[in-house]
Amino acid sequence: MSEPKISSAAREKRVFKPSAEFQRQANLGSLATYKKLHAESVNSPENFWGRQANEHLIWRKPFSTVLNWKTPHAEWFKGGKLNVAENCVDRHLGTVRENKAAIIFEGEPGDVRTITYKQLSMHVCRLAHVFENMGVKAGDRVAIYLPMVPEAIVAMLACARIGAVHTVIFGGFSAEAIKDRLNDCQAKLVITADGGWRRGKVVELKSVVDRALESTPSVETVIVLKRTANEINMVEGRDIWWHDAWKGGPNQHKAKAFDSEHPLFILYTSGSTGKPKGVLHTSAGYLLGAKLSAHYVFDLKENDRYFCSADIGWITGHSYVVYGLLANGSTVFLYEGAPNQPEPDRFWQMIDRHAITILYTAPTAIRSFMRWGDNYVLRHRLDSLRLLGSVGEPISPEAWRWYHHMIGKDRCPIVDTWWQTETGSILIATLPGAAPLKPGAAGLPFFGVAAKIVDEQGKEVPRGTDGKMVITKPWPSMLRTLWNDDARYQSAYFGDFPGVYFTGDGAKQDKDGYFWISGRVDDVLNISGHRIGTAEVEAALASHPSVAESAAVGRPDSLKGQALVVFVSLKTGVATSDALKEDLRSHIGREIGSFAKPDSVRIAAGLPKTRSGKIMRRILKEIAAGREVKGDTSTLEDFSVIAALQKED
Ligand code: WT7
Repeated sequence: MSEPKISSAAREKRVFKPSAEFQRQANLGSLATYKKLHAESVNSPENFWGRQANEHLIWRKPFSTVLNWKTPHAEWFKGGKLNVAENCVDRHLGTVRENKAAIIFEGEPGDVRTITYKQLSMHVCRLAHVFENMGVKAGDRVAIYLPMVPEAIVAMLACARIGAVHTVIFGGFSAEAIKDRLNDCQAKLVITADGGWRRGKVVELKSVVDRALESTPSVETVIVLKRTANEINMVEGRDIWWHDAWKGGPNQHKAKAFDSEHPLFILYTSGSTGKPKGVLHTSAGYLLGAKLSAHYVFDLKENDRYFCSADIGWITGHSYVVYGLLANGSTVFLYEGAPNQPEPDRFWQMIDRHAITILYTAPTAIRSFMRWGDNYVLRHRLDSLRLLGSVGEPISPEAWRWYHHMIGKDRCPIVDTWWQTETGSILIATLPGAAPLKPGAAGLPFFGVAAKIVDEQGKEVPRGTDGKMVITKPWPSMLRTLWNDDARYQSAYFGDFPGVYFTGDGAKQDKDGYFWISGRVDDVLNISGHRIGTAEVEAALASHPSVAESAAVGRPDSLKGQALVVFVSLKTGVATSDALKEDLRSHIGREIGSFAKPDSVRIAAGLPKTRSGKIMRRILKEIAAGREVKGDTSTLEDFSVIAALQKED
């Protein structure tokens, strides 16, 4: 049982070959097949993707061209028409899947519901009628701010069914953040709940929406799901209960077909300016990417019960709770609450109780489980599991080993999956039956993915050398643009290396072609799997009356991956105090959401700047990490500020 302790990626040299047993049953069971298909997918993408699109999607009208690529704009499957909701739900009706569970839901208080594909279709159809009766039309934007309950999935699919564009807003975002998103996309309808359950308490969602809606003129209607039964305020003429809206409505709905490139959803994510980016995904290409990757990466089988712990408010929830899984006819397990409620063994208990076969979670969660202690895991059998997944940040070899041994009992392969909100679906992952797993490596490129490591000039570097990761060819599930800001789309993703997509990540490729990701090279932080732009935090602080200037940086954190540290200089006459620091933290919580509250606020008379007035972030990162300030400081204007900041904590 005792494994040698592994303390760094450099020392973990073992590779884990797929077992013969796993390989025999795998959807893709040999390296040679993977290599052949991958070569075809990048060398003749039109053949490869044309074939996959015909095999995997249900078309109302066949497409005429596979790809139009006018850098940096892609159009996939032009001429084709389909309905995304039909591809996720209706296609399973009249088949053996009709009465199969589409969703098994467990609320935090312990309430369990199973929804079959047939029932899901009835719910989606009903809500689609409700939307249409409210005047929601194809192309209109609908915001969804719900807890992790089945209705969130129903709402997304009902939007897709009528061609409305959903924007799901994570339940941790503040009123201010919601307001900005609603105004940016001019949402007409908001779907929320009275509240959701988290750590035994009600998270009041409706009251947050009420505050956001004080200045969102585009919003006409709010549909409110009753979940927690806490007291809320219903605004006459604007708000309607979900159960009243759909009472007595028909549960069949004739779906229209939409163009392949019809917008499916906008998902806001952080970038390197203060304003979040509205990543736009469209219909056919996105769905194909999500479906095909889920099939191969998770090696999906008819009897799987799949549990992804990501919230529906993030891209992982979109692609690998909803679209990719339902399009494959899988059974998705959905959990509303916290992993340590009532005790830190909630996941393991649910895995046993529901006979979950696949678990997809994040390294930050794995580190929490490790910290909570093995005893919570050892209470449970976990013998239904057959495959584990990881996403969100590099998984350290220690966490990999623990996950493999304690959760997977040395039996389940772990697929690490690298991708982004913008990529729509997994782009790098080792297919579990095809190639050996290397702990700490994201893996090999998925079909259609032409990834490369380049230097500052965009020139490919030799294997084993660190550089920046780019994708040199378009792929079906790539973002199409940024909502209302195509110029930013072009500069953010295609500006650094003209003509190729820059991921923002540093990485290297080893001799076997595996990608090892080191993390973001831009000003985007990854805190417990949440993507937060430092500029967004700084913009929030700038609106506080006491703040003159600020800089937000990340510091390594053994639990969260990165922790947020903000450096602040105050306006003349404002005195520093603990109360002020706390107020600054709350202010960020109000402007963005409580998950963005910094771990540490450091106040000083000035920030380190170059003589031309640019804040020297490199120095702040070193101070935040408690390291000695090294490297070139010759352009620093005033050395005394460093000493002052080092003292302050
Ligand atoms: C960034 C994207 C895609 C779902 C979750 C986050 C980092 C993501 C991995 C991985 C190393 C990873 C990257 C990427 N990242 N997965 N398996 N190994 N790093 O989506 O918020 O769009 O963030 O997360 O830095 O750029 P996101």
